[in-house]
Amino acid sequence: MRIDIFCLFPEMFASPFSQSIIKRAKERGLVDIEIHNIRDYTHDKHHTVDDYSYGGGPGMVLKPEPVFEAVEAVKQQLSVTEIPIILLTPQGRLFNQQVAQELARFPHLILICGHYEGLDERVREYLSSDEISIGDYVLSGGELAAMVIVDAIVRLIPGALGSQSSPSSDSYSNELLEYPQYTRPQVYRGWAVPPVLLSGNHGEIAQWRRCQAVLRTAKRRPELLRKATLSDKEKKWISENLLSLK
Ligand code: ADE
Repeated sequence: MRIDIFCLFPEMFASPFSQSIIKRAKERGLVDIEIHNIRDYTHDKHHTVDDYSYGGGPGMVLKPEPVFEAVEAVKQQLSVTEIPIILLTPQGRLFNQQVAQELARFPHLILICGHYEGLDERVREYLSSDEISIGDYVLSGGELAAMVIVDAIVRLIPGALGSQSSPSSDSYSNELLEYPQYTRPQVYRGWAVPPVLLSGNHGEIAQWRRCQAVLRTAKRRPELLRKATLSDKEKKWISENLLSLK
């Protein structure tokens, strides 16, 4: 997979992209992430990337020319023509695990990070093919949003995680929050690991985990349960146990 990111602050990506899973995926050749500075595609002496807003008002607006030229220059070097060009903006569709899975299927993605108070509308209208927001809050720029999205996508690439079974048991992959997990010591400060997990009975362990995932989701994110497939028995557990669950 290849991901091209266009932004004004390329240095921001150095640390998150050189650690842990993303680092390993890059080293294994599973992903190639190229960061491009939009400022490199300006032509004036001062490398101007923004300008006043037509019609007045506070704040500067990111100019269309360097953004178009940057993306087009990189696209020209590539043989593929149909690449999603995603604009990161609080006005976009909300990012979630399903969107991550959808994007992870593309061999190539282009991400554009907006900055300042705004971005010329023509980028949105004539260059981007999709707009994504990582949540209902406003960041200073799209760089942090791009990092979040890249992280969520890269860990879905086959081989990026140590174990292939890990991504599918994550919270949200199967519409339920994840079940509680424990490791050694068996008793810590008097708090013991649930005995069923030490029983060696894989059937009972699987059932306990499923039950915990269902109850936890019911308690914390009841709206997710509406989309989940539950057995009649599970629906009964929920009504019986909801009040007693912490
Ligand atoms: N840029 C600024 N805020 C953003 C957000 N919430 N999501 C994506 N890009 C953004």
